[in-house]
Amino acid sequence: MELLQSADLYRRAADRIPGGVHSNTRARAPHPIYFERADGAFLYDADGNRYLDFVLGNGAIILGHGHPKVQAAVQAVLSQGLTTGSETRLGVEAAERLLQQVPTAEMVRFANSGTEAVMHALELARSATGRTRVAKAEGAYHGWDSAMYVSAWPDLAKAGSADAPAPVLTHQGADAEISRRTLVLPFNDVAATRRLIEEHAQELAAVVVEPVMMDIGYIEATREYIDELRALTSRYGIVFIFDELLTGFRVAPGGAQEYYGVTPDLSTFGKAIANGYPVAAVAGRREFMEQARPGGPCAWVGTFNAHAVSMAAMCATLQTFEGGGVWRTLQERMSYLEERFAQRAAERGVQVTLRGRGGNFHWYFTDADVRDYRSAATSSAERYRKFAENAAARGIWLAAGTLSHHSLTIQHEEDHLDAFVGCL
Ligand SMILES: Cc1ncc(COP(=O)(O)O)c(C=O)c1O
Repeated sequence: MELLQSADLYRRAADRIPGGVHSNTRARAPHPIYFERADGAFLYDADGNRYLDFVLGNGAIILGHGHPKVQAAVQAVLSQGLTTGSETRLGVEAAERLLQQVPTAEMVRFANSGTEAVMHALELARSATGRTRVAKAEGAYHGWDSAMYVSAWPDLAKAGSADAPAPVLTHQGADAEISRRTLVLPFNDVAATRRLIEEHAQELAAVVVEPVMMDIGYIEATREYIDELRALTSRYGIVFIFDELLTGFRVAPGGAQEYYGVTPDLSTFGKAIANGYPVAAVAGRREFMEQARPGGPCAWVGTFNAHAVSMAAMCATLQTFEGGGVWRTLQERMSYLEERFAQRAAERGVQVTLRGRGGNFHWYFTDADVRDYRSAATSSAERYRKFAENAAARGIWLAAGTLSHHSLTIQHEEDHLDAFVGCL
């Protein structure tokens, strides 16, 4: 595969853009690949090479790249000339559609990225409770807010004991004072989590959980764990936040809250809700959302909030979800992939398990029972690297990290999935 154009673009970029990339996860050795177009399940780079895409904008593409209904909605709004800075009919329609999709939520407001949405949800929680500290699970990624970018993929040598994990700072740019105050919870350990939350209950504004931890692959919370978090947060007046940036409309048509049958106080959504256009949302109970009303106790403004292009993309995307057909297709493809992958692993005698739902998935090269970050971290980086090499040789686009999540769209056909399985 020739990469002359990418190599040339990297030469130009390296001097002007840190690492030649606008997001560090896009870095590759010996240089990033620079893409030019995408269509359905495929990406095309600047040299014209075609890649079967399983990264899909970090899970943001659910209907396939350039889905005609979404593209048409975007074209239509572009022709009206109104882009941002004002409220629009589409902003109201998008809110109505999102609340239909998430019937447990009473109100919603839009932001531009998952990081922002989580940050706003925490601010609403602090404003409503008058408390400042927050809790999150070890290994979970919730974006770049200093209170959240703690113990995301931590070095286990620094992470303390499994039942009382130490907050590990993930980078030096965070406000260390804020990061250190975050309470880190051991995912899926009910007794230890109960003890930690009870010890700090009076200081906690919010407990944030990604109910299926997808930023370390695919790890479902047990029902008991989610029920316990709901019970504890209700008992101690702590705001319970579901981060549904990835679980949103993949784990179930109404997200993880539908899958678990639990109503959080607030939830954050993004990524697949607009098939790759930049928008995120905070949705939930009126009493918390109303903290952000104009003149209310919690400020929330933004130039690009409810941007017309993203609103159009979101309305069109959510419209395609009606009737549940998109989700059923994704789940059918998921089952096919799981079956074929398990068959191939058995044939080749490889210790590996692929798990997923609604088109988000991961495969762990370990015999451990993967139920949290520490057990996920036993997955063989070497085995993953070999799998990724096989994939690259076949023109299959995967994420670089051993625990990265991958996705499907409704445009991934069985032969695409067979090609993926063939990398094992
Ligand atoms: C669960 C979760 N929360 C938050 C974020 C942050 O979202 P964004 O990259 O849009 O800032 C991500 C992004 O990967 C995510 O997966």
